[in-house]
Amino acid sequence: MSGSALYETFARAPLAFDRGEGTWLVTDKGERYLDFAGGIAVNSLGHSHPHLVAALTEQAAKLWHVSNLYEIPEQRKLGDRLVDATFADKVFFTNSGAEALECAIKTARRYHFVKGHPERFRIITFEGAFHGRTLATIAAGGQYKYLEGFGPKVEGFDQVAFDDIDAAEKAITPETAAILIEPVQGEGGIRPVPTQSLKRLRQLCDQRGLLLIFDEVQCGIGRTGKLFAHEWTGVTPDIMAIAKGIGGGFPMGACLATDEAATGMTAGVHGTTFGGNPLAMAVGNAVLDVVLEDGFLEDVQRKALLLKQGLAAVADEFPDVIEDIRGTGLMLGLKCAMPNTKVNMALRDQHLLAVPAGDNVIRLLPPLTVTDEEIGEALKRIRGGAKGLTDAIAAEAAK
Ligand SMILES: Cc1ncc(COP(=O)(O)O)c(C=O)c1O
Repeated sequence: MSGSALYETFARAPLAFDRGEGTWLVTDKGERYLDFAGGIAVNSLGHSHPHLVAALTEQAAKLWHVSNLYEIPEQRKLGDRLVDATFADKVFFTNSGAEALECAIKTARRYHFVKGHPERFRIITFEGAFHGRTLATIAAGGQYKYLEGFGPKVEGFDQVAFDDIDAAEKAITPETAAILIEPVQGEGGIRPVPTQSLKRLRQLCDQRGLLLIFDEVQCGIGRTGKLFAHEWTGVTPDIMAIAKGIGGGFPMGACLATDEAATGMTAGVHGTTFGGNPLAMAVGNAVLDVVLEDGFLEDVQRKALLLKQGLAAVADEFPDVIEDIRGTGLMLGLKCAMPNTKVNMALRDQHLLAVPAGDNVIRLLPPLTVTDEEIGEALKRIRGGAKGLTDAIAAEAAK
């Protein structure tokens, strides 16, 4: 909105939503949109989930904030539950994904520092990665479009090509502390890293004394049909950053680590004012109540298959619009045969919300609570959008 007081940093669509109901968003004009953008994988349980609303309002009536100067029982509880459900022994709560990554990077660097190797501070990352917008995380992501104009790049990140494990091995030096990777690249274009590659990275880290860091900010919390995407591979990291889905729309994140990897994170070396705040913790616990319910993740897997099969049929029918379907679980990508921005607009015209990503992909990130009927409706709208674009191409050719 030009003329507004806000920084012009976002290319916003001319839409304003007044309320949300499950998988649906309703504009200030009363128009309904099927939300397969999910706040970019944030609204894990859709909009206004009754269990989340109850948890937040109950906590809001009791206590909002006390600071980490004191014990926060809800924080301890959520930390214990994340530890019980994962490889991790320790958790640090943050307000965002980028802060979770900052904590992960600091944890890796401090580990080597306290082990007597302060020279080991460099981290290997992969092309197409996205780790956030702080100064360190834009350096980790390595994308020029996010680094340009912000002064010297934060030192200590070495990037290799996506899924090039030989290159990662060659990039290791006596200064290398860790390897950082998204098991499924989100913003990079919904690109899952092959299991074999993650296994090789784990081996490399073990052989060379490096820490393996997973960024599951986007692909975690049930998005792929397991609580965390890496569970499909049998490979566990030493450190992991999460955010987005764990808050279901309430801003929060966390850095998880093994006892060993967290060795250097002792009293006073790191902190946060808001991270782990009682409101966020109440919601995080409520999200886990639902996602960890018996059968919930199996149902996500079933629905994901339904959506993927339906999308494959649409891609077969409209190859001039959709080249390929990629991704896993409810984190699917339409690799577009024409500019993805055009496809995104066509979907929006059908009142279906999606998110463009790198590599000319459109991301579909519906809530994990999406119903079979809503999947059917979304497929109808995607088909409608693709048909409109194909018809336009034919009309143009006939001129
Ligand atoms: C994989 C990944 N890491 C980190 C981030 C940064 O999270 P935030 O925007 O909450 O700082 C994102 C956000 O899109 C992400 O997708």
